[in-house]
Order: sequence, then C-alpha cells, then structure tokens
Amino acid sequence: MIVSGSAVQSLAAELAAETGRPLATVEAERFPDGELLAAVGGFDADEAVVVASTATDGDHLELLQLQDAVREAGAEHVTTVLGYMGYARQDQAFEPGHPVSARAMARAIGAASDRVLVVNPHAPGVVDYFEPPAEALDAAGVLAEPLPEGLADPLFLAPDANARGIAGTVRDAYGDGAVDHFEKTRLSGDAVEIAPSDAAVEGRDVVVVDDIIATGSTMSEAIAVLAERGVGRVFVGCVHPVLASGARIRLARAGVEAVYGTDTLDRAASAVSVAPVIADAL
Ligand code: R5P
Repeated sequence: MIVSGSAVQSLAAELAAETGRPLATVEAERFPDGELLAAVGGFDADEAVVVASTATDGDHLELLQLQDAVREAGAEHVTTVLGYMGYARQDQAFEPGHPVSARAMARAIGAASDRVLVVNPHAPGVVDYFEPPAEALDAAGVLAEPLPEGLADPLFLAPDANARGIAGTVRDAYGDGAVDHFEKTRLSGDAVEIAPSDAAVEGRDVVVVDDIIATGSTMSEAIAVLAERGVGRVFVGCVHPVLASGARIRLARAGVEAVYGTDTLDRAASAVSVAPVIADAL
C-alpha cells in the first residue's frame, strides 16, 4: 500500500493511479504541547511505500512516524520514496563544528527503510549516506511536457555547471535546441552572482532549468542577465518548486513567461508529475 506524507498528496495519488496500488489513509493531530501524531488508517499489506517530501522539519518528523506506523500495522518491507529530500544541500560540513546534515537525515530515514528512492537529490552522492539500498532517480525529463511546441531556436540553460545535466535531459525530452550553462557564485543564503556564458540569446526562447528553486535568487539573477541581452521569451523549470516566501514574486518581477515545477512538492507551479518515473523504479 502507498502511504502519503502531507506535503505530497498529489504525487501519492498519481503514484497510486500509475501503479494500481491502494492508498492508506493518513491522519495527523497535534497534542497541546505541540507534539505531532501522524497515523495510518486501513493499512493492510506486507509492503509499504511511504512517499514524503521533507521540505520542513515537521515533514521529517511525520515521515519517521509514518514509517514506524506501517511497521506497527504489519508491513514487512518498507520502501521510502523521497520526492524532495530536504537538507540535501547540506551535504558536507562547511566549517569546523558543522554537521553533515544530509547524512544525519539519511541515517534517520534509512533506519526504518528497506529501500530508499530519492528524486533528483541536490547532490547525487547523498544516496550513499543511507544504510539500506538507495537510488537517485532522474525525473528532469518531465519538465519538457508543459513547454509550448515550436519554441524559437530554443536554448536550454542551466544557471550553474551542476545543473547542466538537467538542462540536457530537458532538451533531449523536448527534442530540439541547444544546451548551455552560466557560472554561479553564492554570496549568501539568498544572494548569488551570475557570470554569463557567451551564448547568443537575442530573440531566442530560453528555458532555464535547475533542480531547486528556493528563494528564486539564482533564477532571477540568470533572467536579469538574459534580459540585458535581448532574450525572447523566458520559461523557468525546476524539479523541486520549493518556492520559499517571496520567490514567485521575485521571478515575476524578473519577467518570466511561466514557471513550471513537478509534484515533488504541492505548489501552484507543480505542473507535471514525477509519478511515472517512481513507478518505473518501484
Ligand atoms: C543550488 O546549487 C541549487 O541547484 C539551486 O540553484 C539553488 O538551490 C536555488 O536556490 P535559490 O532559488 O535560493 O537561489
């Protein structure tokens, strides 16, 4: 049976439809002292697929409780699917005294899992932090689906070198266009500096893609550079539309035509589902 964390209800429903597996019910309540109780209902299966996205600390806690609840309800095999793995950007100790937060999270989540699937983790190497077998799934190709047909001389652009693979995957899925990337220097949590490539963008439709849009700083800086160079339309896509407070406004002010994300997080921009990719892996 499929068990859904509260941040990924649409994804879990799509996954149930895609696999033909039933969904358990999930109910959550808070005690007066603030403690969470997330429980499964109607669970009757040997195998559980617990789907979650851990964008908040509460989501993390809810996932740990759901994993435990399905074991209590009789599951002998638990597969944990992380649509969006929070803390994956903290994949190393950046200063003495810092934790490797991605490893700490992976240890906790992996402890109650027999298998883990992670959709486009920020750093693919984080799957090695899980004790049970864990795989990174690349769902970026679905970002081509909402793009209009007949883009003008399209350029699929990554805001930094790390996302160039994603840009290539989306271009391949779209079936036409060139691929390029800018260089990014992060100045702080919500400020970046973008150094453009020498790609000609005047009059072209440019699709800027990344794994995550969080504050929108990366994308809006990239779009500002494109605007200075007389770009045609700009479409923005990401696998994980975290879209923290103010991000969508920042992107609108930068002049994007449309922002597309997947359903690893339930957002207004979640235009396409990664469920087929997860279903294949399952
Ligand atoms: C970082 O390298 C990621 O790939 C994204 O570029 C980053 O997480 C986006 O964050 P923000 O929207 O806050 O600039």
